[in-house]
Amino acid sequence: MEIIIQPSPEAATDIAARIIARQLREKPKSVIGLATGSTPLLLYRKLIEMNLDWSGVTTFNLDEYISLPREHPQTYHSFMRENLFRNINIAEENIHIPDGNAKDIPQFCMEYEQQIHASGGIDIQVLGIGTDGHIGFNEPTSSLASRTRIKTLTQQTRRDNARFFGSEEAVPHHVITMGIGTIMEARQNLLLAFGQNKARAIAEAVEGPITASNPATILQMHPVTKLCIDEPAAADLKRADYYRWVYTNKPDWQTF
Ligand code: F6R
Repeated sequence: MEIIIQPSPEAATDIAARIIARQLREKPKSVIGLATGSTPLLLYRKLIEMNLDWSGVTTFNLDEYISLPREHPQTYHSFMRENLFRNINIAEENIHIPDGNAKDIPQFCMEYEQQIHASGGIDIQVLGIGTDGHIGFNEPTSSLASRTRIKTLTQQTRRDNARFFGSEEAVPHHVITMGIGTIMEARQNLLLAFGQNKARAIAEAVEGPITASNPATILQMHPVTKLCIDEPAAADLKRADYYRWVYTNKPDWQTF
């Protein structure tokens, strides 16, 4: 894991945006995995400003709520259109977001996995992290080998996401999410986390034992995972000084 601690969400996002920009320049037909929620908003704004060429890029989103009408402002279809897709030159047919209204959800999930595979696999997967350590919507106790499937949100996640819906009751219980096994197959994972409320989940993910009780801990087993986090999210890391030293003293050829 590479832990990049920056003074602000803006500075951490800048680095993540440079990593993605380089990927798109080096491989115009890249496959990028995308996340939603508040964390990647700055990243998407930054990527729009960079005016990159997305014409050959394929995207796969991590997750979607089940049973919300697609036009509902809180679906991840709406989120992605509003915050990224309407502002970049991506081809409509290259966008993939789980269909929370699919008639046969297990069949849909199997096909989503097949589409990822057929695209050549995800080059960079963008991730946020839940306060309970979830990645995608793989809640604690998710199988660490899981594939795209239906999941039930924990009360903690529904409470955390109530801010988007106006009330906790309005947050759906069920979602479709890429599995942890799916995420682990991405060639690179790029996790962003900002704010003190993520500090415990981040400390466990980086320095704790690998456990399904904090699904993000599995990223310790991934060969290319970068964390771009701000100081408050890094607050509980025991080896923060070491990570800072490593990043500041990176040889030129290793910088982004
Ligand atoms: C969303 C997703 C979730 C969020 C996580 C953090 O696509 O996969 O894992 O990244 O719930 O959400 P925010 O960024 O709103 O704190």
